[in-house]
Amino acid sequence: MSQLSDISQQILACQKCGLSTTRTRAVPGEGTEKAAIMFIGEAPGWHEDQQGRPFVGPAGKFLDQLLGSIGLDRGQVYITNVIKCRPPANRDPLPREIQTCRAWLDRQIELIQPKIIVALGRYSLALFFPNATMSKAHGKAQRRDNIIYYAMYHPAAALHQQSLRRTIEADMLKLPELLSQAEGVAQAKPEPEQLTLF
Ligand code: URA
Repeated sequence: MSQLSDISQQILACQKCGLSTTRTRAVPGEGTEKAAIMFIGEAPGWHEDQQGRPFVGPAGKFLDQLLGSIGLDRGQVYITNVIKCRPPANRDPLPREIQTCRAWLDRQIELIQPKIIVALGRYSLALFFPNATMSKAHGKAQRRDNIIYYAMYHPAAALHQQSLRRTIEADMLKLPELLSQAEGVAQAKPEPEQLTLF
């Protein structure tokens, strides 16, 4: 078993917080251990809790379309959430739940070593940049510890709001260029100057 699968098994059995008593299934995440891009959402919703897979409801269908717009599918990236279990009635995650669950995400990041972390939504953004706001940070990148952090609105927020939808679609289209910078392909353009910092 790969180390990432081992972490997933441990997450499935996790009882570190009260969400373990209300969840149907924990949702560790899915994708490839070799992912260059890791997408981190907020928390599983109803569909995810039922299936044990991230982003499989309406927001997930939209995320699939967004990935498709840059020629990717979920098998080529890694998708997970800030917290791995659904909060009852989809309430916002509590600070102590986020803190308790953080060790799992840190372990996943350590193992995958993504070149780019895409923070989907404000909870994910706040984990890495507590003072950033999505309205200012979206579509921009910040390099830290050899990882490029990139912020995007949450697909659920953009799903029913036309202007946000156009924004998230446009932000997604910037990812391939960022990835080629991260991989050093775009050598004609030195990296740090290419990043639009938030
Ligand atoms: N919203 C999220 O943040 N994550 C999911 O997995 C599904 C919906």
